[in-house]
Amino acid sequence: MTTVYLNGEFIPKERATISVEDRGFIFGDGIYEVVRVLDARIFEWPAHAARLARGLSGIRIPLDASAIDGLRSVCERLVNENGLTDGEATVYMQVSRGAAPRTHQFPPAGTRPTVYASASRFIVPRDQREAGVQAITFPDFRWLRCDLKTVNLLGAVLARQAATEAGAYEAILLRDGIVTEGAATNVFAVVDGVLRTHPLGNLILPGITRQVVVQLIHENGITLVETPVTQGELLRATELFICGTTTDVTPVVALDGKPVGTGTPGAVTLRLQALLESRLYAAVGAGR
Ligand code: PDD
Repeated sequence: MTTVYLNGEFIPKERATISVEDRGFIFGDGIYEVVRVLDARIFEWPAHAARLARGLSGIRIPLDASAIDGLRSVCERLVNENGLTDGEATVYMQVSRGAAPRTHQFPPAGTRPTVYASASRFIVPRDQREAGVQAITFPDFRWLRCDLKTVNLLGAVLARQAATEAGAYEAILLRDGIVTEGAATNVFAVVDGVLRTHPLGNLILPGITRQVVVQLIHENGITLVETPVTQGELLRATELFICGTTTDVTPVVALDGKPVGTGTPGAVTLRLQALLESRLYAAVGAGR
């Protein structure tokens, strides 16, 4: 039996129901987070909580700071109650603007946000991490507030589906001739010997893994230039990798069916992958 959290209660998943008028369902009007849990410890909770708070205030969903802080113990309890204290797990959290008769404008003041969370076992796909994955390029036709982690994910869903249909893992999104990010990952590339990634701003999600990887890059004296990679530069990139909470650093070894660089994971990618792994497992004391 799986236990989930819904609006203050820990209940069996089968009993967790929301209104058909929930604005998350009707409008995709909500914000979500995904955290990685290793041996019952949440990786980078403060960063995830800060992004959730920023997202909620960005779309003007009123949720107290104490309710956001309280989600930490909600995550921990879900991990416990679902027998996930050993090994790895993820917790998904979602806050929508609540249930109210359908109007595009906000519902009446006092409408309670719907708060949902669930925990799942996470098995690291070691083969993907080691061998790398294939990706496709795909148009970035998402809206212009990609910095907000909203549940309105149609652009990402269609991009990932196109990747899946092409036998690839990820879609690298191109907007106006530049790489923004992946459908559900941030993207780094080595172009002419220099590591590059799209700068923060409204066109990408400020990934927590990206933030950790950037820290590791700086701590280890690697040069990073945060300027957008053009489509032309992408074609001659010698290394390409994606990163995210459930992706860590994953090499991209083929793009649109053509090898990236030598077609095997590159040196910078492997170094950052190893650095992130030590940070991930050391930070939580999980060991491997
Ligand atoms: N996706 N960019 C996009 C568009 C994302 O959806 C994600 C995460 C990332 C990486 O962010 P982080 O390092 O904080 O996970 C970048 C999550 C995992 C998801 O949708 O399931």
